[in-house]
Amino acid sequence: MSVAPVSFRLNGIERTLDVAAETRLSEILRDLLWLTASKVACGVGRCGACSVLMNGKPVNACLVMAWQIEGADIVSPEGLDILPETRIVRQALSEENAFQCGYCAPGFVTVLVSLLHNDPDADLSQIKAALEGNICRCTGYHSILRGAQAAAEAVRAERSKLT
Ligand code: FES
Ligand code: FES
Repeated sequence: MSVAPVSFRLNGIERTLDVAAETRLSEILRDLLWLTASKVACGVGRCGACSVLMNGKPVNACLVMAWQIEGADIVSPEGLDILPETRIVRQALSEENAFQCGYCAPGFVTVLVSLLHNDPDADLSQIKAALEGNICRCTGYHSILRGAQAAAEAVRAERSKLT
C-alpha cells in the first residue's frame, strides 16, 4: 500500500499526514490523530455516527478517503465550538434528555449545527430531512427532535438579538 502526503485543515489547523490514499477519514481522525468524538458504527455510510463537516457540509467520515480531503476544511466534533450554534444545540439536546447511551450524539450534533448555522429557519420537516442519515438505537427520536426544534428556536432568538 503506497503512502503519500495529504494536506488539509482540521479544526482550524493545517495538517499534513503521510497516509495511503484509501485510508478513511474516520481512521485518520480516530486512529492516527486520536480524535475519537466521531464514532464508527456501521462503517458503510448508513448510520451517521461518524459525521464531520467537510467544507461546511456534513459527510460520513467512513466514506471519505484520504485522497478526497486534500485541501479540504474538516471540522470534527472536537472542533465544532468554532460555530456559535454548537453551544445552543448541545444545551437544547441536553435539556430534552435527547440521548441515552450517547454513541450517536456527536453525529446528530454535527448535522444539526450545520443545518442551523446555514438555515436557522429550518422547520420540523427540514430537521427530519437533515437527520435522516443519522440512526439512534436508543431513544425513538422524539426527544432528539424536541431538542432540535428547541435549538432552532434558540438560534433564531439569538440571531434576532443581533439584528
Ligand atoms: S460509521 Fe459512518 S455512517 Fe455509520
Ligand atoms: S442514544 Fe444510544 S444510539 Fe443514540
